[in-house]
Amino acid sequence: MTVRVPSKINLHLSVGDLREDGFHDLTTVFHALSLSDEVTVAVAEEPGLEISGEGAEDVPTGPDNLAWRAVEALAAHVGRTDPKVRVVVRKGIPVAGGMAGGSADAAATLVALSSLWKLDLGRDELAEIAATLGSDVPFALYGGTALGTGRGEQLVPVLSRHTFHWVLAFDHEGLSTPSVFGELDRLRENGNPPRVGSHAPVVEALASGDPRQLALLLGNDLQAAAVSLRPGLRRTLRAGVNAGALAGTVSGSGPTCAFLCADAETALEVAAELAGAGVCRTTRVAHGPVPGARFVTGDDVR
Ligand code: C5P
Repeated sequence: MTVRVPSKINLHLSVGDLREDGFHDLTTVFHALSLSDEVTVAVAEEPGLEISGEGAEDVPTGPDNLAWRAVEALAAHVGRTDPKVRVVVRKGIPVAGGMAGGSADAAATLVALSSLWKLDLGRDELAEIAATLGSDVPFALYGGTALGTGRGEQLVPVLSRHTFHWVLAFDHEGLSTPSVFGELDRLRENGNPPRVGSHAPVVEALASGDPRQLALLLGNDLQAAAVSLRPGLRRTLRAGVNAGALAGTVSGSGPTCAFLCADAETALEVAAELAGAGVCRTTRVAHGPVPGARFVTGDDVR
């Protein structure tokens, strides 16, 4: 039972004030990208988690791993104890990169396991379990392009008429999401960093399908905080635009930078030039939007 699951970037990320539960209210436009992870689950006498691929050595495989927590959450939901399953994750999404890789693995695990256990759960029911695991887990189930509110877990699909072409620049080290949110709170206590405006123009640009229009509107309130913690990102962002991208943005809480390009060919050129510019660890090209977690055989969840 193998499920492929997309990464995400945020085309627009507006962060509200800190809530009493420690989260921030968000308004965000999620966009699922073809850069993906694959998760296989199988019945096993010796339960556990194995991780390989991009950045695997940095991922803890203990009970705190979000994919394993997904196993336990689904087991609890259907009243199973002591789940005898093995979860194998092949990573393409950078670890702690701001592209929701851990959330993607949790979403894929829910889909794969619910099929392995022949549970007749639809995507909406899985999304409720997903929301208890993390703010970005429900989006990884649905994919596409969506407006997220609340912690980011309340989703409404957004019409997107076009395939957009992206270059991703991975950094040498990840950033912790809570520390980036904390840095934004600190910047806001000590000053008044600019805030992104309404998401409405982004939604219009997506409907028009014009990457040049969308490029003008990319915005992320967490970018200033990520750049404050990782000042080199400023240089990376500049280098992508100098290499021919229409615009660049920090993805989510960073440090991965996402560059929107006019077409697939330009994306390949920008990726090659950025990789050689010494401003990042490596680059990838990707396109979006793509669907959420689904079986590699192409079968969809109901
Ligand atoms: O939901 P998730 O586990 O991905 O969130 C990780 C951390 O990111 C939270 O503990 C919180 O510090 C921060 N966060 C936030 N507001 C959100 C989402 C995440 O402050 N809407």
